Amino acid sequence: MISVVILGKGTVGRAFIRQIADIRAPLLERGIDLRVHGIVGKTNFLFCAEGIDEECLRDVADGRGEFVARDEVQDAADVTEAVRGIHADHHLIVDLTAEPNIAAHTTWIRAGWHVVTANKHPLVASFREYDALMTHARRGGDRMYRYSTTVGAGLPIISTLQSMVGAGDEVLEIRAAVSGTLGFIFSACEEGMTFADAVREAKERGYSEPDPREDLSGKDVARKALIMARVLGSRAEFDDMTIESLVPESLERGTVEDFFAALPDASRHIDDRFRALRERGRTLRYLLTVTPESVRVGVEEVEKESDFGRLHGPENMFVVRSRHYATVPLVIRGPGAGAEVTAARVLADLLHVAMQSTFTHAQV
Ligand SMILES: NC(=O)c1ccc[n+]([C@@H]2O[C@H](COP(=O)([O-])OP(=O)(O)OC[C@H]3O[C@@H](n4cnc5c(N)ncnc54)[C@H](OP(=O)(O)O)[C@@H]3O)[C@@H](O)[C@H]2O)c1
Repeated sequence: MISVVILGKGTVGRAFIRQIADIRAPLLERGIDLRVHGIVGKTNFLFCAEGIDEECLRDVADGRGEFVARDEVQDAADVTEAVRGIHADHHLIVDLTAEPNIAAHTTWIRAGWHVVTANKHPLVASFREYDALMTHARRGGDRMYRYSTTVGAGLPIISTLQSMVGAGDEVLEIRAAVSGTLGFIFSACEEGMTFADAVREAKERGYSEPDPREDLSGKDVARKALIMARVLGSRAEFDDMTIESLVPESLERGTVEDFFAALPDASRHIDDRFRALRERGRTLRYLLTVTPESVRVGVEEVEKESDFGRLHGPENMFVVRSRHYATVPLVIRGPGAGAEVTAARVLADLLHVAMQSTFTHAQV
């Protein structure tokens, strides 16, 4: 039996819980008994020693569910301790929060849990902490740490890089557009919308964070760049990265309303730049470039008729050059966000663990 605790029941969490409810019975027919014993939110939790039944999982996915207030337990550790007492072949934690959980991830891996995370924050902690986590995961035998969805959501970029590096290929450069929000905004601007209107529309369509400055700061792109750089063996630190922010310095503080009120004036230079570039068949993209020695994140001018220039809206694209893919690069392109595609890949990570574990046990 695979016992699962899920942290986070937001957009991705609820889609994931629904997908688990749908796949439980078919998995059981294949001999995999996957049970969710705990679901932990910021303020409340759900625990069931027999495994939460499918009807209840669907209720949670629909935003209902009978949760117990979190102040009745100390924190997620209490739920995981309770679940740890349940006899299972494997215990698995799925982190679908955006919390700085590196210490918890390390503790869980050391205690013998598998961890699957869509949460980027633990992977961009200091290199010392990151290295300790990965070392424990490597030394843990069949215990696994999977984080496919932290970059590119459902797109298979992390697993591809890991298998290239693992098979001895040398990745020379990754260039990528990884922000759906910035992709949408830049596409709208090149079609003539003002930057301020494009940012507002991205918020209204739910592409951006509630405070769009979070996306415009470039920090989320930088986190993804650092995660990939570390897969290639980089020891870079997040705090040392140069990140080009699209938030005018004068608007970094203040309410979201103040930000939107001042943005048209403060971003006129961006509108002018798009206009001038349009006349020359060029445009702007927010890109990252990762090499074994460096990580760069910021706005770049590209030909409109180039691969990155032709990207439209929130699409992501990764162009990977390596020793084996030197002349023609490896390209991965598709939607880089979305609850369903992300949840499906989190589930694929979980099933990878389940299959590997079952296989390992069958071998023993
Ligand atoms: N959305 C995407 O397309 C996408 C793609 C790839 C990766 N991701 C990553 O996936 C993660 C989840 O994204 P999301 O869009 O689902 O975010 P979200 O809707 O904001 O959900 C986050 C959830 O985390 C929970 N949470 C916060 N603090 C917690 C704590 N201390 N313990 C337990 N739960 C806690 C919140 O619980 P309450 O509901 O109780 O407040 C909320 O349900 C993020 O790290 C995000 O970067 C998202």
